[in-house]
Parts: sequence; structure tokens; C-alpha cells
Amino acid sequence: MKYTKLKSPVPRDVPLPYETFHFKKISVSYLPKPKTTRYVSFYKVLEKRESRRDIRQPLLETEISKLLWSVAKTKTVKVDKFGRRIEHRNTPSAGGIYPIDIFIIRRLIHPIKIELYNSYSHSLSEIPLEQNDYGKTFVEQINRMFNIKRATVLIFAGQFKKTLSKYKNGESLIWRDVGALLENVYLVSAALNLSCCALGPHFDDFAEALNCAQDYIFLGGCILGRK
Ligand SMILES: Cc1cc2nc3c(=O)[nH]c(=O)nc-3n(C[C@H](O)[C@H](O)[C@H](O)COP(=O)(O)O)c2cc1C
Repeated sequence: MKYTKLKSPVPRDVPLPYETFHFKKISVSYLPKPKTTRYVSFYKVLEKRESRRDIRQPLLETEISKLLWSVAKTKTVKVDKFGRRIEHRNTPSAGGIYPIDIFIIRRLIHPIKIELYNSYSHSLSEIPLEQNDYGKTFVEQINRMFNIKRATVLIFAGQFKKTLSKYKNGESLIWRDVGALLENVYLVSAALNLSCCALGPHFDDFAEALNCAQDYIFLGGCILGRK
């Protein structure tokens, strides 16, 4: 059986030049700041974490806000000696680079609306689909996997050059980053009593439909919803 062995990452002495990819944006909506946390036992949440495919309703805006704030909101930023940002969020990322962007489809109904999370302003920007018919294909693809209606979907997309500019052979760091992110989404969903299930496909077609396949590799995602 053939498999690809990813090479071990090595930090570069001097980072290679890298420019962030910017999407065209249709509109921006700011998420409400989450209310104070209702405390639940961490170990109970850990025990409760499971893949749940029973979804009746998509998430409320307050739940989307709480989830994204908890897993991906930027808490602090500093700049290194090369002028590169190093961030801290509740989820770890190799080198504090955070190369993974989160797309959200709040309601999985055709025609879908795709929004990109901004971890600094805690907002969602609507991004145009360059291939309009892809939305229908995407909804059908998820519905073939799960018998659900109106779920919320998160899709993770890695800007590989962002990490590779700082680490030679850095590909595995991004795959490990997405594992950490996915687990935190699972845990926060369990804490909020929401259903969550990971999605195996990477959604390469999604990158094509957003016309960003040159700059992003898509890394799967998850479906979420109210039970
Ligand atoms: C990377 C990853 C991809 C997954 N992809 C799918 C999927 O496409 N469909 C699905 O029903 N479950 C998927 N799952 C969920 C697993 O099937 C599930 O984690 C496993 O059966 C253990 O069950 P539990 O999560 O409830 O403990 C995925 C899980 C992971 C970590």
C-alpha cells in the first residue's frame, strides 16, 4: 500500500516573502459579542464529545458567535523581528501563524451563502461564488453523506504558503493545526449542547468555485446544528 510520508518541518532562518490572499467581499456583518460563559465541567464536556449527525436546525447567530469566538477569535498579536504577525487564540497553531481560514454556510440550503470569518473583528464577510452552480453540488454532496436539513457547515481552508514561508516542509504543521481546530469545534459544540460531525472530504472543488485554488488547500470541515 502506497502512502505519502510528510517531511519533518524545519524553521527557516529568514522567512520567505509571503502575501496574504484577499477575497472579494460582498458585505460584512459583525457578530454579537458572546455573553458570559455558563460554566460546565471540562471533564464532563470531554466525556460528552461525540460525532452527532442528528441535526434539526442550523445554529442561531448567538451560537455561531460563541463557537467562532471560542475556537478562532484572535486574543493577542505581536510582531516578530521580521515584521511577521504572531498570534494567540484559544486553539494552538504552529509558530502562531494561523494559516487556516474558516468559511461558514449558516444554512445548508441552495442557494448557499458563503461567509469568511475575520478573527480580528469577529465578523463574517460574504464571499461571491465564482461558479454559481457549485452551491447546488455542495448541498447535494453533504446531503448524500448525512440525512439532514438546514445544518450549519464550517469549511477549513489552509493558506499553505503562510506556514511554508516560515517552515521548510511545513505541510504537516497545517494538517496538525486543522486537527486541533476541529477538536476545539467538537468540544465547544459539546459544551453548548450542539451536534457536530467532522467531514472527511477536503472540498477541493470548493476552492475552485471560490477561485482561490492557487492560494488555498481545503482541509475538510464539519456540520453543526441544534439537536
Ligand atoms: C478527520 C475526521 C473525518 C471524519 N469524517 C467523517 C465523515 O465524513 N462522515 C461521518 O459521518 N463522520 C466522520 N467523522 C467522524 C468519525 O466517524 C467519528 O469521530 C468516529 O466514528 C468516532 O465517533 P465519535 O466522534 O462519536 O467518538 C470524521 C472524524 C474525523 C476526526
